[in-house]
Amino acid sequence: MYTEYDSQIDVILKNMTLREKIGQLNQKNIPNDINKLEDFKEQIRRGEIGSVILADSMHAGNDPQRNIDTEFYDEFQRIATEESRNHIPLIYGRDVIHGHRTVYPIPLASAASFNPELIEKCYRNIAEEAANDGIHWTFSPMLDLCRDPRWGRIIEGPGEDPYVGARCAEACVKGFQGSNLSNDDSLVACAKHYIGYGASEGGRDYHRTEISDYSLYNYYLPAFRAALDAGIGTVMSSFNDINGQPVTSSKKYLTDILREYMGFEGFVVSDWTAVIQLKAQGVAETEADCAELAVNAGLDMDMMDECYINNLEELVRNGKVSETVIDTAVKRILRIKLAKGLFDKPYCRTVVYDRAQHLADARELAAESMVLLKNDNVLPLSKNSKIALFGPMRYERRALLGGWTLDGKACETPNFYEAMTEAIGKDNVFVGGEPTELHYDRSWEMWEMQRSDVVVLALGESEKVTGEACSLADISLGAAQKQLVKRAKASGKKVVGVFFCGRPIALEGVAEDLDAVLYAWHGGSQVANAACDILFGDTVPSGKTAVTFPRKTGHIPLYYNVTSSGRPCNCYYNNCDYASYIDGQATPYYPFGYGLSYTSFEYGKPVADNNEISLEELKKGNSIKISAEVKNIGEVDGKETVQLYIRDKVASQMRPMRELKDFKKLLIKKNESVTVTFELDYKKLGFYDSDGNYKVESGEFDVFVGENCLTENVITVCVYD
Ligand code: BGC
Repeated sequence: MYTEYDSQIDVILKNMTLREKIGQLNQKNIPNDINKLEDFKEQIRRGEIGSVILADSMHAGNDPQRNIDTEFYDEFQRIATEESRNHIPLIYGRDVIHGHRTVYPIPLASAASFNPELIEKCYRNIAEEAANDGIHWTFSPMLDLCRDPRWGRIIEGPGEDPYVGARCAEACVKGFQGSNLSNDDSLVACAKHYIGYGASEGGRDYHRTEISDYSLYNYYLPAFRAALDAGIGTVMSSFNDINGQPVTSSKKYLTDILREYMGFEGFVVSDWTAVIQLKAQGVAETEADCAELAVNAGLDMDMMDECYINNLEELVRNGKVSETVIDTAVKRILRIKLAKGLFDKPYCRTVVYDRAQHLADARELAAESMVLLKNDNVLPLSKNSKIALFGPMRYERRALLGGWTLDGKACETPNFYEAMTEAIGKDNVFVGGEPTELHYDRSWEMWEMQRSDVVVLALGESEKVTGEACSLADISLGAAQKQLVKRAKASGKKVVGVFFCGRPIALEGVAEDLDAVLYAWHGGSQVANAACDILFGDTVPSGKTAVTFPRKTGHIPLYYNVTSSGRPCNCYYNNCDYASYIDGQATPYYPFGYGLSYTSFEYGKPVADNNEISLEELKKGNSIKISAEVKNIGEVDGKETVQLYIRDKVASQMRPMRELKDFKKLLIKKNESVTVTFELDYKKLGFYDSDGNYKVESGEFDVFVGENCLTENVITVCVYD
């Protein structure tokens, strides 16, 4: 796909000196120190910088202080394209993760929408806003499968399931890159962190990982494979090692698997100063060794540490790195610069976008991402209710945007109090004093609760305990918030907990005291409005968890697609005592795929158009069609995510007791039923062996169609030789 530019690139390469070639592999940020700007420009003029990362050197892109300045960017671009010898444009990259000016839910939340079409639409909006600010390339989507909510970065990815990961990956890439990468409103996307970073041991950031090849192919790679299939232009290698091999210097992961096995044609950028980190990881002695290992492994662009620009010339001269390796890396980078159209349109371009529509889409995605975890006949609330609104998140703005928000502004984000007063009027919302107060005045609390009809608690976590280098050893609710829940319960009123969080927190001991639990996540610019849409029944909740909610931190890792332990048989997801814990049942508090609605759906038995199919027929592209009738038996119209799971009953390798293979999210009107049909084809019935060979094995498969991963609504089909 990107090789179409290769003959053009060969001509460019012929005129480049070795140093200029290495310059293309060098990514730097704009110096903070104004006195260093001239040097920076001079480096660009000499062709020693190929890409600029719009991030602060101290904060690896986490610093929202650096303002976008397109004139500033154009000045560097002018030097690159007009004053450097080869006139090769710079490519500007930034962490535009789940929003730009308009912020959408953190990716773990948007995965819970189970609505790839809406995700794609929102990521298109993000691309428009970022492209208008002169950004060409985003370091997103993050596709790290993660089974450990202690890891702060779980918020950035699609959760625990490879199929959901793949669907989200495809949606994000299509959204970011648009119909043509060279369009003014497209961003080059970057699949990160390749690979295995989400498996950091103990959820501790940057930590080692142990991943078998079988797990790699079946769990960690599928989302990346989907991003590649969707035409992603770049990949970021990950900080972690796998089984003692840093990915940054791994030919196995960067070349054998990524290029040769998966056919990737774009370029790989390192993570922030990860090349030089090879020294600390103990596989390189000198900086030159780091550069040699990384470039020979297939890592094309060096982010920030200048290891390449300082060492590669010498390494080529002394024969440790061949010039062909450098040429190949340059070629991959130029493919993407050409595909982005930077040679023709190097300067910042105005992209006209509809901000009001973006905000409306953000509200819709935030609402679809919210998961109603519990509802004992309390929601939706009447708009005439008198509500006592308490809790640390009621006036919060910044946390609602979530981690990795660089350009969205807290001051433009309605807080929950504002959203609620907008929805039901100021007089109906009791907050115990002036709503602007920063301190917490407890003296009014019980009085306000008791004169209300219902207590709503705005609970959650700060964005500062999520994201990079922000892991937690304890993912339960903080002590002060737990006490608040107890006091609210003691008021005798119905109590609704609205949780603004980044990760699934351990709710045992808390949710029991709440009559309803709405998980709103760090849902972005419009999350407060969206939460009110749901609380007051304007929107019917439809989110489903894309990650398991454990009861306690100690139950981690707990994920749904596990194999059967064998003792006792058919123990699934710890639902049996002696395969669990003596000090508490370790079943999930809320399982994968779970979420309530204001209506209920009744599932008919799945039926197959054919109970058996031959392997040969499957390989020819034929399939078994599985259908189930789903009826809305409640009082309101609602959306349901109908989920298809399989279990390969006997195989050469232990297979999971449930694996999600498809889902469909549908609006079903009250009293209506729809027949949902899935195609069970070759792609859905197989798995990869440890060498990455995909195969479908003959035998029986249980096929489940239901509302979450615990469904027992099953039919058995057979694949024969
Ligand atoms: C993070 C990446 C990010 C990069 C650039 C690193 O610390 O791991 O996800 O894209 O910084 O800001």
